[in-house]
Amino acid sequence: MKYHIVTFGCQMNVHDSEKIAGILEEKGYEVTDKKEDADIIVFNTCAIREGAEDRVFGNVGALKKMKRERPSLIIAVCGCMTQKQETAEKMKAKFPFVDIIMGTFNMTKLSEYIDRVREQKKRLLELYEEGDIDELLPYKRTSGDNAWVNIMQGCNNFCTYCIVPYVRGREKSREEESILKEIKELVATGQYKKITLLGQNVNSYGKDLKEPVSFAKLLSDICKIEGDFKIWFMTSHPKDLSDEVIDVIAKEDKILKDIHLPAQSGNNRILALMNRKYTREKYLEIIDKIRAKIPNCRITSDFIVGFPTETEEEFNDTYSLIEQVRYDSIFAFIYSPRIGTVASKMEGQIDEKVKHERVNKLLKLEKKIQKEDNKK
Ligand code: 5AD
Ligand code: SF4
Repeated sequence: MKYHIVTFGCQMNVHDSEKIAGILEEKGYEVTDKKEDADIIVFNTCAIREGAEDRVFGNVGALKKMKRERPSLIIAVCGCMTQKQETAEKMKAKFPFVDIIMGTFNMTKLSEYIDRVREQKKRLLELYEEGDIDELLPYKRTSGDNAWVNIMQGCNNFCTYCIVPYVRGREKSREEESILKEIKELVATGQYKKITLLGQNVNSYGKDLKEPVSFAKLLSDICKIEGDFKIWFMTSHPKDLSDEVIDVIAKEDKILKDIHLPAQSGNNRILALMNRKYTREKYLEIIDKIRAKIPNCRITSDFIVGFPTETEEEFNDTYSLIEQVRYDSIFAFIYSPRIGTVASKMEGQIDEKVKHERVNKLLKLEKKIQKEDNKK
């Protein structure tokens, strides 16, 4: 019996797919890179932008013929997109050949769902509203000498454009001891040279624990683990990046000097509308602090263009922020309204053509900066 997993979206999803692979291997399945050879195909989906959802619909839809020719093939869809009830229902109605539809909180039930589908010969759609981090899962790691380590799940920030808090729930941190144990074991194998800590907002790690632990403490405790390895983490929210965290990064050789610090916009009115809780000035202060304490630190960022009501002048503030910071790399996204979020209901949605022009300007600027800095 063979399995094939198709992953969309961020590193969190890549790591979740390692979880799904582990569950399937425990059940006796072996991996295959060809859909044609698979007895089960799992789609782990992303909901962050409409484009991501369209790709999922296209990819799942393309399996109709395969399922008709091989009815024993099991097709499962999970992740952020199907965590939304309406989208899960739409998927069920549109693709009658999909056997299992689940969300983000119950994908660890996959083994049980496969048994149910096989025994009852019935399709299954099941979603949970919340879930705890499952500590005891067998991961099948797939990222070479990098090991992803989840330190928390969910997000409490509710940036007005973002679907994540709705599909990943509230912030839940793992116990520090459990994280340290996992990393010790990973390092002891000698196989992993890079440990990447994952969370939607790693800087608020530990605030929700019974005995709170700061992210700075977690980082310095991980650095005490003996062995030849580097530590990286993502994603940092500028409002929560503390001086202590910057100091630990500066001090510890094991931590990569590489910070992903999404600014999203360079304009204060847009930042407020986005509910980002910092200003351009505050953001630049943090960048200055990082550069003063960690010379040559790599800094990268995410930007959204065409947020509702964004004027040309306000977009130009984003442009000038990028010119000012001179990032090592940026991701620039066209704003995509996500149903259920505050921004999707705002008046003044921006024309698609204008959004495309703005994103192209940012990408051109990034290329120019990289070229100049590479020359240096
Ligand atoms: N439209 C466009 N980009 C988005 N992001 C999050 N939500 C949206 C959206 N609705 C971007 C942000 C975030 C990155 C992971 O995706 O820039 O940092
Ligand atoms: Fe989305 Fe904002 Fe949370 Fe990041 S911090 S996951 S952008 S709500």
